[in-house]
Amino acid sequence: MNARLLEQSMLASEDPQIYDAIVKEEERQRKNLELIASENYVSPAVREAAASVMTNKYAEGYPGKRYYGGCEFVDVAETLAIERLKQLFGVEYANVQPHSGAQANMAVYFAAVKPGDTVMGAALDHGGHLTHGSKVNFSGSLYNAIGYTVDPTTERFDYDEILALAKEHKPKLLVTGWSAYSRIPDWQAFAAIAHEVGAVMMADIAHVAGLVATGLHPSPVGHAEYVTTTTHKTLRGPRGGAVMCDAERGKTINKKVFPGIQGGPLMHIIAAKAVAFNEALAPAFTDYARQVIANAKALAAALQDHGLRIVAGGTDNHLMLVDVSVRGQTGKDVEAYLDQIGITVNKNTIPFDKNPPTVASGVRIGTPAITTRGMKEAQMREIADIIGAAMDDIGTHARVDALRARVYELTAQFDVP
Ligand SMILES: Cc1ncc(COP(=O)(O)O)c(C=O)c1O
Repeated sequence: MNARLLEQSMLASEDPQIYDAIVKEEERQRKNLELIASENYVSPAVREAAASVMTNKYAEGYPGKRYYGGCEFVDVAETLAIERLKQLFGVEYANVQPHSGAQANMAVYFAAVKPGDTVMGAALDHGGHLTHGSKVNFSGSLYNAIGYTVDPTTERFDYDEILALAKEHKPKLLVTGWSAYSRIPDWQAFAAIAHEVGAVMMADIAHVAGLVATGLHPSPVGHAEYVTTTTHKTLRGPRGGAVMCDAERGKTINKKVFPGIQGGPLMHIIAAKAVAFNEALAPAFTDYARQVIANAKALAAALQDHGLRIVAGGTDNHLMLVDVSVRGQTGKDVEAYLDQIGITVNKNTIPFDKNPPTVASGVRIGTPAITTRGMKEAQMREIADIIGAAMDDIGTHARVDALRARVYELTAQFDVP
């Protein structure tokens, strides 16, 4: 059994079922290759803050202006989180209370547009997130959502096409930033489109935040009126969201987050966000982010050597979309096979996908988590070789045990934090 959990074995005696589930999840995270592009391993310090007594505290309001007494210490935590986030991204205002990326985006919609207004974001199968206008989400049901797409040939954004679409529909809000786009966007071109049609621009950097914070990916700050993020992906913090903008717009965002869409903030998570932002400010985090990108490039190239097609021809960030249809397979089947050998990925539609999202023609792969474990380019080649061998074996399932052993041999060499 795991030493870390045994130290906290109150849980083992008080609730053995939950204890057992946590122990098994911890073992899964250690033994498996976690290639989900939106996941990471937080540091023990971040976990300690997230598991702290700050979970007990109600603190509706903002530092210095709370609706509850006894907030002097949670005020310290939230103020530090705000100041550190402002420093990381060079912004005037930050709100660290959104419980998730979706809540952060909702706060911006509520601040920037009215129900029924037209908004424009990337379509779901072109890299967009549910909150960028999907019909099954508030963003697509409260607003008239128009989806822009990538160019069918380059699989990159075509700014002339997006401008033409914006001129046709005249959105009030242009949503940028994506869940599955592997290339560097031209923030200035997006801002020019927004200005030309009189829209405000939101850049949702949930995925690339850690790369932006370290200057290894261009920043939308200065181009977009609002920048939103999650804190748990490349930024390597606890699960949560944040909104950044100028001080004037910040006054409205404050009201939209609380009391607009949330009640009491999760003070333990805000404390953990502060810890993670401090870690991201340290020079070592830039080395980490640089290796995340180097690993993604190495993995994409090695997968191409196995006859797989990388959407948009490769990657500039931490993720890649792998088109498995070129080998006659579906994302669903590949995800299921890889699960059996201890590799965790998610099936993902590719641009202009002929398969529905539940089947999908691709898988999305990312390197943030395995890079936190210390893996480098040599391991990316081994991972690509295992995935290539897995794809050869999907028809027969003859090599499942052998390939799982190869995965466990690799992960055993790299500890998790
Ligand atoms: C671009 C983008 N925005 C927002 C979110 C939503 O974040 P959360 O799951 O914390 O609500 C995600 C999540 O994957 C995302 O990829």
